[in-house]
Amino acid sequence: MRVEKRNLAEFTTLGVGGPAEVWTVENEGDLAKAVSKPFRILGNGSNLLVSDEGVSERVIRLGGVFAQGDLGSVRGDPHLTPWIGAGVLLPSLVQEALNKGLSGLEPLLGIPASIGGAVRMNAGTRFGAIADVLEAVEIFHDGAFVVCAPEELSFAYRQSRLPAGAVISRVRLRLRKKSQDEIASLLARVDSARKGQPKRKSAGCAFKNPPGDSAGRLIDAAGLKGLSRGKAEISLEHANFFINRGGAKAKDFWELVTAVREQLPLELEWEIWGELS
Ligand code: FAD
Ligand code: EPU
Repeated sequence: MRVEKRNLAEFTTLGVGGPAEVWTVENEGDLAKAVSKPFRILGNGSNLLVSDEGVSERVIRLGGVFAQGDLGSVRGDPHLTPWIGAGVLLPSLVQEALNKGLSGLEPLLGIPASIGGAVRMNAGTRFGAIADVLEAVEIFHDGAFVVCAPEELSFAYRQSRLPAGAVISRVRLRLRKKSQDEIASLLARVDSARKGQPKRKSAGCAFKNPPGDSAGRLIDAAGLKGLSRGKAEISLEHANFFINRGGAKAKDFWELVTAVREQLPLELEWEIWGELS
């Protein structure tokens, strides 16, 4: 196990965030030690706005056995995967599924999450979400590893319900066999739906879509595209993406969030860590 003082900007896709004590756990024993004081779990940092002052809690990163695992060798249809460490990155699983002729992960193409973070957020696109392909989720809670059925986690749009203080430790998926051509063709459709999204540093969509509408469309219609604070900017390509043009601060992003909310009653999709206002 490594315990280091690090700037969380190093671990967030937005590239902002101040200092914290970062505990990189390698195995079950490390995890049990790490959760003995107040903590937060860091996935791939792709849905986080972290304060410039950092956070006072321990920040746990899942390394070692929790960052290992793959889709396994394909036998039946459906194919039930082995347990996959929650720290494994989703893009590598999407690629592996294509290589092995396994279908179900295509809707998640382009989401730079850890599989644990994807489950926690029920990450997805209009083509589907991670909850659709979950067989089981292992969580570490109250000192024990417990297996949950997906139904127990109340998945909804960009939402799950975990017991307070639970850590997702491993995940099993249920995938279907399909030809690589069919998988590639769905991947191409998902990729094409992402064409309007900026490639620059962001944390994906800042706000959830309200029922029946798109937050990006609403922010755009309110004339807020291109609004900037410091080096943070509401993307000209897609108004629900806020980008770091280099050297932006968390407080700059928070000012953009506040400016949008002065005009529109939108709910944040980002998770906020630490004090911002
Ligand atoms: P983090 O951002 O590190 O954490 C998010 C939350 O999950 C935090 O509360 C954290 O504590 C918790 N968490 C993480 N891991 C665990 C764990 N093992 N156990 C318990 N809690 C945990 N999202 C979509 O849904 N659809 C998209 O199309 C999409 N596109 C994106 C495109 C880009 C370019 C980017 C940067 C982001 C995009 N996102 C999208 C947002 C983001 O990728 C998702 O919300 C993702 O699920 C976050 O996963 P993460 O591992 O990065 O989690
Ligand atoms: N639109 C505008 N202006 C903009 C952006 C969008 O008018 O600046 C319009 C588009 O023209 C389109 C509509 O709004 O008519 C919807 O836009 P888009 O197809 O880009 O989808 P979205 O609703 O903005 C959602 C998810 C994305 C996901 C895409 C693809 C949310 C909040 N966003 O975006 O998820 O990648 O669909 O399926 O649910 C994320 O959650 O972080 C995320 C990126």
